[in-house]
Amino acid sequence: MPAAGLGVRLGPGQPKALRELAGEPLLVHAVRSLRSVPSIGVVVVAAPASDVEAVGRLLAAYDVVVVPGGDDRQDSVHRTLAALPPDVDLVLVHDAARCLTPGHVIEAVVAALRAGADAVVPVLPIADTVKHVEGVRVLGTVDRAALRAVQTPQGFRRDVLEQAHAAGRQAATDDASLVEVLGGTVTTVPGDDEAFKITRPLDLLLAEAVLAARSSRSGRHAR
Ligand code: CTP
Ligand code: MG
Repeated sequence: MPAAGLGVRLGPGQPKALRELAGEPLLVHAVRSLRSVPSIGVVVVAAPASDVEAVGRLLAAYDVVVVPGGDDRQDSVHRTLAALPPDVDLVLVHDAARCLTPGHVIEAVVAALRAGADAVVPVLPIADTVKHVEGVRVLGTVDRAALRAVQTPQGFRRDVLEQAHAAGRQAATDDASLVEVLGGTVTTVPGDDEAFKITRPLDLLLAEAVLAARSSRSGRHAR
């Protein structure tokens, strides 16, 4: 779980993983959602280098290994891979910033890996019309029917991911793209709106609303 980013787009404050959402750090929500899936074994978190000990304390109840993150996301993922025990052969890479990802998305990725996929990404159709621009000028409209927005967790056979990271020094915003450039096959499973990434301030409001809706649903079930 790469969780070492600063959250510059959220505005001034603590590193993103430590910002609070409904009274708890975002990272606690993220780890709890992973831990709700029984097939998840070892969890390795890349924390901001200055907060490794604090993150360890925060996650003490969740049986995680915490390592210092790197200068960019790819570097942080690389460091988590180096901390995996030798007997692990299927790996999920999951952004802490997608802290409300429903369990069924995580389970779908695991199931596709267990069915033999080398690499798996959760995807959603694009809601907006997408245009190709140069400066302020529109060059054309992209056919969005063939486009998908990509979420995490992304799943990999460990050897495939390690090979991709060892080869990939082009800057990539996800891990599957490192597999793609090596000619590997990446398959898709359905994502979920609630697996959105907390990036800008509006996303924090949305996340609070999702959590409030979940807790009012579970309150109704308890009554
Ligand atoms: N990440 C990381 N190490 C970095 C940069 C990012 O582990 N050096 C992680 C983030 O913590 C996040 C995920 O990668 O869980 C996706 O990155 P992003 O949403 O871009 O988060 P930040 O880099 O923190 O945000 P920003 O780009 O706005 O600073
Ligand atoms: Mg970033």
